[in-house]
Amino acid sequence: MDTGFTVEQLRAAATDAVRAPSLHNTQPWRFRLREGGIEVLVDPSRRLPATDPSGWGTRIAAGAALFNLRLALAVAGTPATVRLRPYPAEPDVVARLVPDVPRRPIPAEQSLYAAIPRRFSNRAPFWPDPVPADARWRLGEAARAEQCWLELLIGTSAVNAFAEIARGAHRVLERDPAYRAEREEWVRTEHAVDGVPAAAGGPQSEPQDLLPSRGFGGRDRAPGRDFEPEPLVAVLGSTGNTAVDQVVAGQALQRVLLTATDAGLAVSMLSQPIEVPGAREQLRLSLGRFGTPQMVMRIGYGQPGSPTPRRPVGDVLDLPVRPG
Ligand SMILES: Cc1cc2nc3c(=O)[nH]c(=O)nc-3n(C[C@H](O)[C@H](O)[C@H](O)COP(=O)(O)O)c2cc1C
Repeated sequence: MDTGFTVEQLRAAATDAVRAPSLHNTQPWRFRLREGGIEVLVDPSRRLPATDPSGWGTRIAAGAALFNLRLALAVAGTPATVRLRPYPAEPDVVARLVPDVPRRPIPAEQSLYAAIPRRFSNRAPFWPDPVPADARWRLGEAARAEQCWLELLIGTSAVNAFAEIARGAHRVLERDPAYRAEREEWVRTEHAVDGVPAAAGGPQSEPQDLLPSRGFGGRDRAPGRDFEPEPLVAVLGSTGNTAVDQVVAGQALQRVLLTATDAGLAVSMLSQPIEVPGAREQLRLSLGRFGTPQMVMRIGYGQPGSPTPRRPVGDVLDLPVRPG
């Protein structure tokens, strides 16, 4: 009896996996079938050397893709058992999934799965409506379900203290010409299968803005106006900061993002204070938490976002060569 996953199952689940977010929409992942198991790999050729010298961003993105893959398989009735970094000699393989006992999906899996194609980074200003307590609780639960924590910054002084750290990190990064060149290289003004379309880049930033924006060449806006009333800022953290912890955090990130989407919330990500080691440490100390901050999110209600492109799924699959 063949107890492994099939090429068809891999292809179907990978189609959902690639909807995951990634730094500058680089999509640094590959998927393959080996001895009946689906394997998720980071694609080092799609790492951003100036923005992401350690490969943290590729592991977060691959973890997020892995979460979608797990959900897709579970919703199809074939949940998987997952081993992270299964081969010490092959560090690019971030996970191996083998079939678990088939079962019907539970409603929570179905609603998160349905959120996959509706999740987009939304960099537009959010409305003043506060995020209600039950939605905040659900977001925290989503992180905890994936062995991570989510700290919501409550009150003006917590948000201001964070904003100062984030703006400092942004200034450090912007001083590096290689970092700026890399970002410009991934802004797309014409049709493409990767990168950030200028239309998804959000409005231009203004000197009075509380939070730094990455500057993907977005729309002009009225000068002198505040971007938005105080946003909800959330920091996602993991217990450690090994390569495995970062893959775990990527899965938690995607679970939080899909939970937010399912609750009708919009989110954008803000990773400058994670990318600058000094800022990350300042952020960790300011939160007074053990573990490591892995991502910052801005969460609220807003205009619906729009999808960014993805490479055709066939481009990210390594399929077994059929004999003969
Ligand atoms: C590790 C990581 C870091 C990111 N950092 C930022 C950021 O600092 N600013 C931002 O606007 N978007 C950030 N993003 C969002 C990506 O730009 C976005 O996921 C990508 O362009 C694909 O678009 P989508 O999220 O709408 O699918 C980040 C995403 C990941 C996974």
